[in-house]
Order: sequence, then C-alpha cells, then structure tokens
Amino acid sequence: MKKIGVFVGSLRKESYSKKIAKVLVSLLPSNVEAEFLDTGVLPLFNDDLDPNGVPEWNHFRSQLDTLDGLLIVTPEYNRSIPGALKNAMDIGSRPKNHFNGQVALVVSDSPGNAGGYGANHHLRQTFTTLNITPVQQPEVYLAHVNTIFDEHDMIKDERTVGFLQSAIDAFTQLLYVTSLSTSVSDFLENSTDPLSLTLGDGHYYHKNDAGDIVAEIKFNFDTPGALTITSTTVQPELQGKGIAKQLVLKVIAMAKAYQLKIIPDCNYAKSFFETNKDYADLVQYR
Ligand SMILES: Cc1cc2nc3c(=O)[nH]c(=O)nc-3n(C[C@H](O)[C@H](O)[C@H](O)COP(=O)(O)O)c2cc1C
Repeated sequence: MKKIGVFVGSLRKESYSKKIAKVLVSLLPSNVEAEFLDTGVLPLFNDDLDPNGVPEWNHFRSQLDTLDGLLIVTPEYNRSIPGALKNAMDIGSRPKNHFNGQVALVVSDSPGNAGGYGANHHLRQTFTTLNITPVQQPEVYLAHVNTIFDEHDMIKDERTVGFLQSAIDAFTQLLYVTSLSTSVSDFLENSTDPLSLTLGDGHYYHKNDAGDIVAEIKFNFDTPGALTITSTTVQPELQGKGIAKQLVLKVIAMAKAYQLKIIPDCNYAKSFFETNKDYADLVQYR
C-alpha cells in the first residue's frame, strides 16, 4: 500500500482544481490511499518561529512524513502558483525537508487556453531543491475547466477521463518503481488490482479485447449526498479473482473523495457492506 497527499492550490469552495482532484482520486488503483491536505489552515511561514514551529505546521509536517507521494492540482495565479500552495511547500521544507524523496503528479488547470502552464512549471522548479521527482509524461495542463464538468462534478468527456487515467497510471508506476531496474512487468505483478478499470458516465467498467464490457459497477447520484450502487456485474470467466470487490472499492474511493454516503442497491454491494464492517460509516440504507 502506498499513501499520497492530495494538495489543491485553490482554497475556493467551488474550485475547479478541487473537482479535478476528486476525479483523479477516483482513478487511483486500490493499492494507493489518498489523503486530502488542507493548505488553507496553515499560518504564513515565518522562519523566526522555527524550529518549534506552530501546531498547524507541526501537524502538517508529520502528515508529510507518512506520505510516499503528492498529487498536486493547482490553478495559475498571475503566471505562477497560488500563495497558499507556496506557503505549504515552504513550511514542509523546514527545519528538515519533509518532501525529500517523494514523487509527484502535477496537474495544472485554467478556464483559459493555456491550462496553467506557468504554474505547472514554477511548481516543478521548487521540486529540484526539495528532491521531489515528478511524473514527466504525460504533462497535464487542463484548459477550459469551467466547461468540463457535469452537474455531479464528473468530467463529461470520456477522452479527458482517459487522459487523466494515463497520468494516474504513470504516477502509480513512479510510486511503485523503487529503482531504475524495476521493470513495468514487476510493477504490474505487484499491483493489487486484477483489472484495469475505466471511469465512464455512471459506471466503472472493463472491456475485453473484443470490446465487450466484462466487468462493471453502475452507480447514480439520484439521492442527494449519496452514491447509489445499482449493479455489480462480473462475467463468469472473470469470477473468483476479486474483481467485484475491486469494483466496489473504486466506488468507495470515489464516495470518500466526494464526501458522499453509499447506498448499496444490488445484492453484491449489500453483502459486501454487511461483511466489511470497516466501511459501516460510509453506508446509508434506504
Ligand atoms: C489572483 C488570481 C490570479 C489569476 N491569474 C491567472 C493566470 O495567471 N493565468 C490563468 O490562466 N488564470 C488566472 N486566474 C484565473 C484562475 O485560473 C481561475 O480563477 C480559476 O478558476 C481558479 O482556480 P479554481 O477554480 O481551482 O479556484 C487568476 C485568478 C486569480 C484569483
């Protein structure tokens, strides 16, 4: 299991960057756990207050020490990164570098054409001194972010979701590759996810080589504040490999990122939540 910290450069309640971060967390494999870190609660960095720091800084620094990687989604402010994000990077860099050796995926966004290119590269500039290794490819500059979401904060265009999935896959690979000699196949063998899943409108699914959906979990947002799982289907040839569980874990990760409850409305999901009491807090029954 790897743990990543999710940073959102914007403090705005309806931030597009925050919405993108939630989608990205929904695309993580089940062997990567995400924790959102709130940079808005951090008092401004002042060197005079170290080494003892202030309680918020100390808590943040101890959170950083538990992480393997960073997922940073940021808008561009005046061709650079927002102050709250820079403040967090400065606090995490002292008195010792709490980012040392971490890997990161940088996603920049803008309602404009350039997708926050300036912010993306200013942020990468700090990575050199902080010894953070970023995903190099794909580079993610999301333009026109004010047009990409539906009413549930899901991204409308499956090609955009597919592109973000490729960025998450590269990030996950970087998280798990501990030396240059580790091959991609070693990484794949270490992955706990039996199948690659695609996020579509109201479902996660896997298609076989013939293009048929062979594993699928469907959900809807019909009940305010909740995700309802309406079906979980795995074709007979794939049964017994833990795929149904993988499908439900995907929806659980999404529900956590979006702070929604889960209504299990199909037999598999019902029995999953009856057996796995660890998720009891998430479940809402009709
Ligand atoms: C102080 C400030 C500076 C900005 N500068 C830029 C900029 O340099 N480039 C850009 O593309 N957008 C700029 N914008 C517009 C932001 O990209 C836009 O407000 C975006 O929605 C903010 O991200 P959020 O939705 O995650 O809060 C700026 C916005 C603010 C508030």
